[in-house]
Amino acid sequence: MRPPSSVTPALLLLLLLAFAPRAPSAPTRGVNLGGWFVTEQWITPSLFAPTSTADEWSLCAALGKKKALSTLNHHWRTFFTRADFLAIRAAGLNAVRIPIGYWAVDVDRNEPYVSGQYPYLIRAVQWAAELGLTVLIDLHGAPGSQNGQDNSGLIGPVLFPSNASNTDRSLHVLRNLTREFSRHVYGGAVTGIEVLNEPRLSVADSADAAFSMAQLRDYYASAAAVVRDAGGRSSNSSSSDGTPLNVTIHDAFYGPAYWAAYNPPPTSDEDNDTATTAAPLTLDTHQYYAFAPLGNLSRPDILDAVCNLSRLLKQPQTSSGIPSTLVGKWSLQTGANNPSPSTSTSSSSSSPAHTNQAQRTWFRLLFEAQLAAYTPSGPGQASLGWFYWTWKTEYDIVSWSYRRGVQEGFIPADVGDAAGLVFPVRGDGCVDAGFAGYTAPLHTGGGGVARGRGVGGGVGVAVVAVAVGAWGLW
Ligand SMILES: *[C@@H]1O[C@H](CO)[C@@H](O)[C@H](O)[C@H]1NC(C)=O
Ligand SMILES: *[C@@H]1O[C@H](CO)[C@@H](O)[C@H](O)[C@H]1NC(C)=O
Ligand SMILES: *[C@@H]1O[C@H](CO)[C@@H](O)[C@H](O)[C@H]1NC(C)=O
Ligand SMILES: *[C@@H]1O[C@H](CO)[C@@H](O)[C@H](O)[C@H]1NC(C)=O
Ligand SMILES: *[C@@H]1O[C@H](CO)[C@@H](O)[C@H](O)[C@H]1NC(C)=O
Ligand SMILES: *[C@@H]1O[C@H](CO)[C@@H](O)[C@H](O)[C@H]1NC(C)=O
Ligand SMILES: *[C@@H]1O[C@H](CO)[C@@H](O)[C@H](O)[C@H]1NC(C)=O
Repeated sequence: MRPPSSVTPALLLLLLLAFAPRAPSAPTRGVNLGGWFVTEQWITPSLFAPTSTADEWSLCAALGKKKALSTLNHHWRTFFTRADFLAIRAAGLNAVRIPIGYWAVDVDRNEPYVSGQYPYLIRAVQWAAELGLTVLIDLHGAPGSQNGQDNSGLIGPVLFPSNASNTDRSLHVLRNLTREFSRHVYGGAVTGIEVLNEPRLSVADSADAAFSMAQLRDYYASAAAVVRDAGGRSSNSSSSDGTPLNVTIHDAFYGPAYWAAYNPPPTSDEDNDTATTAAPLTLDTHQYYAFAPLGNLSRPDILDAVCNLSRLLKQPQTSSGIPSTLVGKWSLQTGANNPSPSTSTSSSSSSPAHTNQAQRTWFRLLFEAQLAAYTPSGPGQASLGWFYWTWKTEYDIVSWSYRRGVQEGFIPADVGDAAGLVFPVRGDGCVDAGFAGYTAPLHTGGGGVARGRGVGGGVGVAVVAVAVGAWGLW
């Protein structure tokens, strides 16, 4: 036996860690792989240019099935490769959100879409598993379109809620995704299935089919039952051999507070006993300051709104009742101060952000403000973390491309390293937006880190920053 005096502090720490209660999993620090399996004109304009189309449905219709398949096959093979996954991990990120359209699994003969994404999705999950990234798979496009926007694959009226065939097909796709990605061969890399991205409920006098909250809740209940059952959480787990996946629902732009205490009720085809131990529910909320109704906020108001959300998500979950929440889309685009994404499709070298020091200082502040706001600062909070939209675009638009931000230095080179952050975090978990101790360097390329967080921030602020940093590294 060793004498106690030889127990080094390091060994003590190891012992303490070994017997400490298991820490919750690390906060999610992720990026979306936007424009890969659901293409968007503004993300990859060259794909659409020959046809002058604006969504994947029309692109495929214009090309015809044969040409569409060869064109998109090339895109699926090249737009994201293993090198991107390596770069994502090197940037300190630990998760990816992968949008997929229903047509990857179920395409009707009368629809122009082509299918062939699935093997690439499998390979993506394998890369993620290999590199230690987790994956949220997200049904981004549903039959009939759930929001009428390009990101659903089809611009036009919202027809998803118009008939049961659309919801049935969606549930079939969710069953397929859950069965596949809860298998042990993926090592638990896929942590959740998001059952519908950004559904847009109908408003009076629109061309959309009626889409009420009650209908959406019905769909969510059915979808939750499908994911729970197909993921092996149900007592009848013969369909799957693997890890239960989190059911992830989008807040439909109602905000996290609206969904407090929400838990989809068991449906008739689900064992009532299993519902109480049901697969965990995760909420997804998207925070953009580029579009109505938040598209006209001043910079101070944007930072104020970011901080308001931070306070909401950092309340103890036991009192707020808000489900565990991911901020599944956010960016540095703001309506008032930047060109709109749809016009920013030319080469990036003309962008003023590259040379404009004040703009880069603002981007750094806006990034760190959202980073602090969307990251939990302690246990027991609704906040689970975030996914930035998006990792890259064809021309790496400054306010949307994460990797461009890293290159320019207004996104830290390693977002998991709290020592690289420059704005102090206050006791309420928001950055001190009035902090004047940081200005982006004149010339980019040096990483942009001028002075550390504690500088000028006062002792209290520095201590909080360290505490937040430690949590961030879990
Ligand atoms: C899911 O759909 C894909 C594409 O159609 C198919 O290759 C795969 O076998 C299906 N997987 C499951 C588990 O049903
Ligand atoms: C359901 O809606 C979709 C989208 O509008 C349409 O294409 C399809 O024909 C409809 N199916 C039925 C069975 O009505
Ligand atoms: C489990 O699955 C089997 C075969 O599919 C079915 O006969 C049985 O009713 C199911 N049991 C429950 C509790 O759902
Ligand atoms: C499940 O149990 C609850 C409470 O016991 C009951 O109100 C509900 O009707 C049951 N649901 C089903 C589908 O059996
Ligand atoms: C899954 O849900 C549970 C409960 O809401 C949560 O604690 C956990 O962190 C979630 N995991 C992910 C990756 O969403
Ligand atoms: C800005 O405000 C105008 C006038 O109220 C409104 O029409 C427009 O939609 C707003 N823009 C954004 C991006 O929110
Ligand atoms: C933030 O919350 C405060 C207090 O509820 C409110 O007065 C303010 O308008 C909110 N700010 C924004 C930008 O929404």
